[in-house]
Amino acid sequence: MAVHRLRLWWRRRRPYAAAGAAGAFVVVSAALVLTLSSWLREDEAPRSFSSDSADLVDLTLLKNAKEKGALCLDGSPAGYHLQRGFGSGSNSWLLHLEGGGWCRSLQSCALRKLTALGSSNYMERQIAFHGILSNIQSQNPDFYNWNKVKIRYCDGASFSGDVENELQNGTTLFFRGQRIWEAIMDELLGEGLAEAKQAFLTGCSSGGLATYVHCDNFRALLPKDVTVKCLADGGFFLDVNDIIGKRSMRSLYDDVVHLQEVGKRFPNCISVMEPAQCFFPQEIVKNMKTPTFILNSAYDAWQIQHVLAPNASDPQDSWLSCKLDINKCNSSQIEILQGFREDLLDALSEVKKKREWGMFIDSCFVHCQTSTNITWHSPSSPRLNDKTIAEAVGDWYFERRVVKEIDCPFPCNPTCHNLVFVSPTIYKTGLSSSVIRFIR
Ligand SMILES: *[C@@H]1O[C@H](CO)[C@@H](O)[C@H](O)[C@H]1NC(C)=O
Ligand SMILES: *[C@@H]1O[C@H](CO)[C@@H](O)[C@H](O)[C@H]1NC(C)=O
Ligand SMILES: *[C@@H]1O[C@H](CO)[C@@H](O)[C@H](O)[C@H]1NC(C)=O
Ligand SMILES: *[C@@H]1O[C@H](CO)[C@@H](O)[C@H](O)[C@H]1NC(C)=O
Repeated sequence: MAVHRLRLWWRRRRPYAAAGAAGAFVVVSAALVLTLSSWLREDEAPRSFSSDSADLVDLTLLKNAKEKGALCLDGSPAGYHLQRGFGSGSNSWLLHLEGGGWCRSLQSCALRKLTALGSSNYMERQIAFHGILSNIQSQNPDFYNWNKVKIRYCDGASFSGDVENELQNGTTLFFRGQRIWEAIMDELLGEGLAEAKQAFLTGCSSGGLATYVHCDNFRALLPKDVTVKCLADGGFFLDVNDIIGKRSMRSLYDDVVHLQEVGKRFPNCISVMEPAQCFFPQEIVKNMKTPTFILNSAYDAWQIQHVLAPNASDPQDSWLSCKLDINKCNSSQIEILQGFREDLLDALSEVKKKREWGMFIDSCFVHCQTSTNITWHSPSSPRLNDKTIAEAVGDWYFERRVVKEIDCPFPCNPTCHNLVFVSPTIYKTGLSSSVIRFIR
């Protein structure tokens, strides 16, 4: 299996690379190589760290995985990383569902079995907690001392599939995301989640989608007087036409939903529309009761690359430079991106009316924004209404103010750090490695 090396640069929209920042730049880039690994899906995450060892959190494999059928694609036990809370956070729990795309065919799921996204045999035994998972108060002001759990993603269908038979056309593949979700919740309840006074289910990318799918169920696990809320980061995948008028994302979901029998999650919805449509957040949120925060860029990098201008719809690569660097989009491409933003805002119009919900829809070319201190909370983080994402989310969770922030259209926000992908290739979901730099 080829491992594609992906190079990424972050930089602010203006000013361009300043020579004087070279020293700081190396330090920051080293940190980003570690922290961005969680959503960029490289399978070469570093196994040892020279600093910050206090932040390393062990992998726990599920105890009764076999009996409960809570298995990764290859039949290995599912797992999670738990860092205990302390002080005033001892009875508060923050869960984070890892992302990493989906597999849509027996062939792509069989390849995924050979990575950490399909097998706990390949998962790092320890990972660093950053961003919303950081235990450093200055980097994570409201949640640093909570119990925090990163739930590893290894089922290929956003913790939502459930197929009894593991033999698929002669290939052994376990499609058990729903059972993984249930078994991990069960185990965490026993680890102290059952005594939580406040709880927060979060997730990014395909883990953000899983957050929409499971949020109400999570709420139902805990007593009514417990504060329970959810946050989906970069998970509001849109059901829209791509640049040549095809529903590429719908057909991806159609494959995933049929392969893993995901339709069972949405009994009401599938009686009135295609099962694949029911897997989109714009449909799921219509039935959700639990207060939820939608964190999403209006120019989400993954969506521009895979929903709006997927390779199959751009055989000439005429969108390639724009997909790698939003500053290279020409005026007609920018117009199409503005249309994509309008589609997102339309899809969110129902959510805007939900009083207890929150949103932060920025105009930065990024994907997961809770996962790194650069995007989550630092002096140079992107801001809306002069607040970082961490401040906006904290204000909303603790009801310090109403948070429904929508940024002005690109390129108006000077606080953005826009990703720049310098490839040989755009990362292939689940199979890429990455080197990341950050240019001020
Ligand atoms: C199973 O194999 C048959 C015959 O090779 C093929 O037609 C069918 O599409 C396969 N099913 C899946 C889900 O790949
Ligand atoms: C922008 O790029 C696209 C794709 O290469 C091209 O079709 C279009 O004509 C360009 N538009 C402008 C205004 O240059
Ligand atoms: C981000 O976090 C890393 C690791 O904790 C730290 O070394 C770095 O200084 C932080 N960067 C910023 C901008 O806060
Ligand atoms: C998309 O096309 C580019 C340019 O041809 C290529 O480098 C990249 O690997 C492709 N991405 C995927 C996901 O296939």
